[in-house]
Amino acid sequence: MDESAWTELKRAAVGARANAYAPYSGFAVGAAVLSASGRVFIGCNVENASYGATLCAERAALTAAVAAGERELRALVIASVAKSPTPPCGICRQCLAELAPGLSIRSYAGDARADYELASLLPEAFGRGHLD
Ligand code: THU
Repeated sequence: MDESAWTELKRAAVGARANAYAPYSGFAVGAAVLSASGRVFIGCNVENASYGATLCAERAALTAAVAAGERELRALVIASVAKSPTPPCGICRQCLAELAPGLSIRSYAGDARADYELASLLPEAFGRGHLD
């Protein structure tokens, strides 16, 4: 993927982070995914007074893409307010693997960046093939 596409995703993720609803943790996260057809979808974390009902930014972006009819995802950018770049949580890894096992991920904390491949973050993933 070319750098300009990553730059656009980063801008989108940082923009989404500004809308994060994180009154309990104070940990704002934005995410942006690029679909195979070239469209960008954003998400932010949405917390809840019942803490376990919290939605992560990555799953919010994923569901926005699916709701728009996208089933294939190429890349994900995460932008958090952490001191150093953070990987997606376990639940988000599982959700992302459903549609995009080969997903490439960049995570930013300010300008600091970490790169991940979902296949490395979630080896031996449980998937639909296991339901056969
Ligand atoms: N969070 C995300 O949105 N994405 C991550 O990758 C890690 C965690 C959210 C969930 C919760 O609102 C806050 O960050 C602290 O865990």
